[in-house]
Amino acid sequence: MIKRILITTIALALLLTSFARADEGMWIPLLLNKYNYADMQAKGLKLSADDIFSINHASLKDAVVIFGGGCTGELISNQGLLITNHHCGYGSIQSHSSLDHDYLTNGFWSMSKEEELVNKGLTVTFLVSMADVTDKVLNGITEDMEESKRQELISETIKQIVADATEGTHYTAVVKPFFAGNEYYLFVNEVYKDVRLVGAPPSAIGKFGGDTDNWMWPRHTGDFSMFRIYADKDNNPAEYSPDNVPYKPKKFFPISLNGVKKGDFTMVYGYPGRTQEHLTSYAVKMITEVSNPAKINIRENILDIMNADMNADPKVRIQYASKNARVSNSWKKWIGENRGLKRLHAIEKKEQLEKEFLNWVSKDKDRREKNSNILNYYRKIYEEMQPYQLAIDYFFEAGWSMELIRFAKNFKVFTNLSDTSTTEDIEKAKQKMRNAADAFFKNYNMPTDRKIFSKVFLGLYYNNVPKEFQPDIFRTIEKKFKGNTIAAKFAKYEESLYTKSFFINQEKLNKFIDNYKVKNNKKIEKDPAFVLYNSLVDLYLNKLSKPYQDFNNQLHKLDRQWIKLLREMESDKVFYPDANFTLRVHYGQVEDYYPRDGVYYDYYTTLDGIIEKDNPDIYDYRVPEKLKQLYYKKDFGQYAEDGKIHVCFTATNHTTGGNSGSPVINGNGELIGINFDRNWEGTMSDIMYDPDMCRNITLDIRYCLFLIDKFAGATHLINEMNLVR
Ligand code: ARG
Ligand code: ASP
Repeated sequence: MIKRILITTIALALLLTSFARADEGMWIPLLLNKYNYADMQAKGLKLSADDIFSINHASLKDAVVIFGGGCTGELISNQGLLITNHHCGYGSIQSHSSLDHDYLTNGFWSMSKEEELVNKGLTVTFLVSMADVTDKVLNGITEDMEESKRQELISETIKQIVADATEGTHYTAVVKPFFAGNEYYLFVNEVYKDVRLVGAPPSAIGKFGGDTDNWMWPRHTGDFSMFRIYADKDNNPAEYSPDNVPYKPKKFFPISLNGVKKGDFTMVYGYPGRTQEHLTSYAVKMITEVSNPAKINIRENILDIMNADMNADPKVRIQYASKNARVSNSWKKWIGENRGLKRLHAIEKKEQLEKEFLNWVSKDKDRREKNSNILNYYRKIYEEMQPYQLAIDYFFEAGWSMELIRFAKNFKVFTNLSDTSTTEDIEKAKQKMRNAADAFFKNYNMPTDRKIFSKVFLGLYYNNVPKEFQPDIFRTIEKKFKGNTIAAKFAKYEESLYTKSFFINQEKLNKFIDNYKVKNNKKIEKDPAFVLYNSLVDLYLNKLSKPYQDFNNQLHKLDRQWIKLLREMESDKVFYPDANFTLRVHYGQVEDYYPRDGVYYDYYTTLDGIIEKDNPDIYDYRVPEKLKQLYYKKDFGQYAEDGKIHVCFTATNHTTGGNSGSPVINGNGELIGINFDRNWEGTMSDIMYDPDMCRNITLDIRYCLFLIDKFAGATHLINEMNLVR
């Protein structure tokens, strides 16, 4: 009763506050003119829609790239110079680092093009063109078609579209679904493969604040790194060659020295990865009440163990820095997401919308007959799916938490070989395994892994997942290991695993690899770590993947109908498609916020705050001596504003993962910063955006310039750029 009253009050409040959705949205550049341009202009954009996106002549889109596999980057000189985040270049910087030249710790600055460092496997992807291919893709598709049949036909058509789009060119292409498969767009891309490291600040700047400050505002992270794209003599993509020359871009960003003021127009242009803005209340419930809490708890346990070991031993700190950052990043995001959704009353808001929907459906006979059950279907699927979702979350988060299993997976390289394999195949496999072993042991601390295994795998996984969704290994342990309690059995098992597996002993393992013959596969297959690995694979293949896929197929179909109906219902509203790692335009304004009652956060931070945070005892807050000197001498060059170096600022652009490294642009199309994060109070924007609370965090470009020029002395790079006032 009390509960019901509460809900009605909230529902009422929701109805009364008509929901201003100011800067929400990530828009398709091709449709800017049609949907957004007038609004953008009113908010301060001075460019034409064509200046931003055109497939006929050079436009800003030609200065924006996919950097590697999951970030955005932008061109800032006519010699292929590119800037992105430090955390996006991290892997490359790390791969060139060793004890002798530790670029992660000390930073790296090439003083000439000859000193730039080649990155095997790193690519940069330009968008050549995009087109709406919905009609082609959906030609011959009917609504009553079986979902798997539909997918099959669509894949066929897409293959053909891609083949046609790339025929006779060196381009690649993809077709991606929008609005849950109601629309499809073709993207033709050009991939450059010779991308060299030009510069990166030390981690004490590029990762300043570490995971303590990650997702937080006020923020002082100098999160940038620089690369250069190389091309063959005709400016075309080419594999690395010393003969390659700096790429000449069609377009690059001029850089503004003017900074930003509250209320200024900002535009982010980049590749947002994934959002789910149209989930039903049932889905939000499952995420916030089942999935997120489980994943948060598992990761908390992992992080506790890692942090303790990292604090106790500087070697472990280095070994686990990157792993810790990976685990911590989503962990912290989910916590923020759950809090934000709760604060927003997201479930009640969704329920309210669903009520309106049912009301709307009931008013039309045809609609009523076809669609009045859709929410019931949703409810039923999420109810049935919930145990599977939990099993899947535990499988990926707890099941794979142990590093040794992830390493064991590599041995498939050997067990996939057979008597018919050639000597060449075998040599290749040996080399692959040598590399895998090197990479693994470089950053492996067995006691840390063992503690995680004990706590998370043998503890949480065993205790929190129903037996039917557990890997068989648990049954084996129960049967075959001696002990009065399960804890005693687990202790025995753990001991035997970590002493008997030869995967753990680098010396033995190297010998094994060097002398490897196909008949030795028996030894791999018997290894307890490999047995454990196989037990997980079996669980997935036999019990999880099929039902989980079935649920998802059903959901795909419902989602497609749901969003179609919502668009019909709210026909005066312009919908933006969920992020799907395609190029989007996000626009909004520079804005401060009130995170909690009585607390105000200004929209920018300065170098003063870095000095304030400086603390040699806290790893994340050690400010480099040189930076302090520049600060005390006020040696700021042309990069200060009112005597201060501005470091970061917040705005209302609706961004997500993948937008890291994206250019942040002012109304004149000049670069004012690099997007790198969001605020913790706003991470629920992947599911529900809140104009009062959601802020993207941008690195002020003037801080980068100051560092490049004054801190690194790489003035030649500044000279390449086009700085404007
Ligand atoms: N939160 C930012 C994003 O999601 C930065 C992540 C990298 N930094 C870190 N400390 N893990 O990518
Ligand atoms: N930090 C994220 C990224 O790397 C951006 C975000 O989630 O806001 O893409």
